[in-house]
Amino acid sequence: MSNKLWEKDFSVDRDVETYTVGRDREMDLYLAPYDVLGSLAHITMLQSVGLLQKDELEALSRELRDIYAIAEAGNLVIEPGVEDIHSQVELELTRRLGDIGKKIHSGRSRNDQVLVDLKLFIRSRIEGLTKAMNALFDALQSQSERYKDVIIPGYTHLQVAMPSSIGMWLGAYAESLVDDLIVLRGAYDVANRNPLGSAAGYGSSFPLDRDMTTRLLGFASMNYNAVYAQMGRGKTERIVAQAIASVAATVAKLAMDACLYNSQNFGFIRLPKEYTTGSSIMPHKKNPDVFELTRARCNKLQALPYEITLITNNLPSGYFRDLQLIKENFLPAFDEIETILAMVTTMVEKMEVNPEAGRDPRYELMYSVEKVNELVKQGVPFRDAYKQVGLEIEHGKFQAPHKLHHTHAGSLGNLCNDRIDALWQKVLSQFDFDTYHRALDTLLAR
Ligand code: ARG
Repeated sequence: MSNKLWEKDFSVDRDVETYTVGRDREMDLYLAPYDVLGSLAHITMLQSVGLLQKDELEALSRELRDIYAIAEAGNLVIEPGVEDIHSQVELELTRRLGDIGKKIHSGRSRNDQVLVDLKLFIRSRIEGLTKAMNALFDALQSQSERYKDVIIPGYTHLQVAMPSSIGMWLGAYAESLVDDLIVLRGAYDVANRNPLGSAAGYGSSFPLDRDMTTRLLGFASMNYNAVYAQMGRGKTERIVAQAIASVAATVAKLAMDACLYNSQNFGFIRLPKEYTTGSSIMPHKKNPDVFELTRARCNKLQALPYEITLITNNLPSGYFRDLQLIKENFLPAFDEIETILAMVTTMVEKMEVNPEAGRDPRYELMYSVEKVNELVKQGVPFRDAYKQVGLEIEHGKFQAPHKLHHTHAGSLGNLCNDRIDALWQKVLSQFDFDTYHRALDTLLAR
């Protein structure tokens, strides 16, 4: 028995069905609660424009709220023979209410359903992502403060360059997250616009009240032009993926640094043994596999915007089934980045620091510029001071001054962590998740 919404008087070949449905039954479960929310808004609007009776709306809303609770608890299944979440919800309603269930599809298409589902999913998952980022930000900032006086060499070309500190190193990654959050906020704004009512991508001859569904779903505005609303499929995911990739790039670099600094040849940090893995042959090994896998997982996430670009690149405007495949790569990406962030947060919190690491004589030359600057302060022109210290180094006479005088904003002695935190809080406060929560609470309480 087939349960396709569109089947008329013939059945589709089994293999074709398997091929076209693909992994949709699994993927659409990510979208289930959002599909129900979209339907709730749509039917509320349909009734307001006279396309549903009041009692029909009441019956449909009651059942949809019930289905929402099932979906929220993760208990909704897409049955064999049912193509996707949109079909499953409609089937569920028809089973419960008979013909009234079939009325909800007036004035829309699965094309705008999947669009609105994706937007609602993205909004909610970005909120979760900001929380995961916030935890890492806090960990980085507090470790930065704690170890701001632990000197390590800074490198250029991976050659010992100038004095840095554990605090400066970790604080840099906190500030990197600020920029990633700014990118994410832009992606949020792109996602927070309502495509519902664009139907198959060209609108409808019903007098749909799109302002009303925009309000009911708590969107900041709508995607006005129906063709553009449909063009947002793929584009929205790509922009959000770029934001996720931005976070992933920050974390991948941190993981790479941590692998280096944890090596015996650097020895700046050490992971508690419970956070390392062993070797099957070398009894002494305590490997930083967590950071290595973090690096690789983050690098994979950075491929995501390109994967989406390649799927969508040469599509003309209008809907194509190609778009379905984006879900397989895109939808699980939030779970992935959140898992990574939680693990890295723990690692940053637990990492041990060697307070003596920077005192190793191998690093003496990182003070060369300090020496030059001392001479400059005594009135020696910079170029002469540079030459004098260069010759001392050449002839093995260099005496490193260990007193550091870094006072300007963003330098070793003045990390500005409080100002970075203020920036973080400011960007975070611009997300305004409350508006959508209020709207959805009201929609579900009707
Ligand atoms: N599973 C489909 C997708 O993700 C749903 C939309 C189907 N629309 C269509 N015109 N066949 O794109």
